[in-house]
Amino acid sequence: MTRAAPRLGVLVSGRGSNLEAILDAGVPVVTVISNRPGVRALEVASGHRVPAFVLPRADFADADSRDGAIGRRLTDAGVTLCLLAGYDQRLRDGFFAAFPGRTINIHPSLLPAHGGPGMVGLAVHQSVLASGDPETGVTIHEVTPELDAGPILAQVRVPVLPDDDPETLAARVLAEEHRLLVGTLADLLRG
Ligand code: GRF
Repeated sequence: MTRAAPRLGVLVSGRGSNLEAILDAGVPVVTVISNRPGVRALEVASGHRVPAFVLPRADFADADSRDGAIGRRLTDAGVTLCLLAGYDQRLRDGFFAAFPGRTINIHPSLLPAHGGPGMVGLAVHQSVLASGDPETGVTIHEVTPELDAGPILAQVRVPVLPDDDPETLAARVLAEEHRLLVGTLADLLRG
């Protein structure tokens, strides 16, 4: 008996370049959910005719209820694999209670280095440069209630160059994120 391919849902908060990379590569996405209105990732979704929803924190009594609503929306759409592609908040227990599928995240460093609270956006690359690490990279990992701490599925290394500033390093890492994400999703969706 062949196993059904996972149905992918994507959570976003901002620019949406990872979402764009996977859609441009032809990866099928069932639904996109943003915790923030008006972000570019929503335009990326609509440009690829993927149904997208905004579930802002302000519409719910607390973060746990909002996260539960996100989980229910995924479950109702038949999603079995959820990707956090630039989703900028920790998911509370309500999410994991409502969505029993697998959730994965992409992070722009070699976790466990430069992960955890506050390690978002340029702060990650500033942290790498301040540490003097000769290399950084990209990690795709399972999401658990603890931030950036779930089992690692895939990593790729990126050298830190002598002239790097946070912006140049972020740009080189981002290009590798797109490659690693498309390849990893292709593997996961093949079952
Ligand atoms: C990426 O660097 C991703 O690794 C991190 O947030 C950023 C999102 O970028 N979790 P984008 O919204 O996909 O362009």
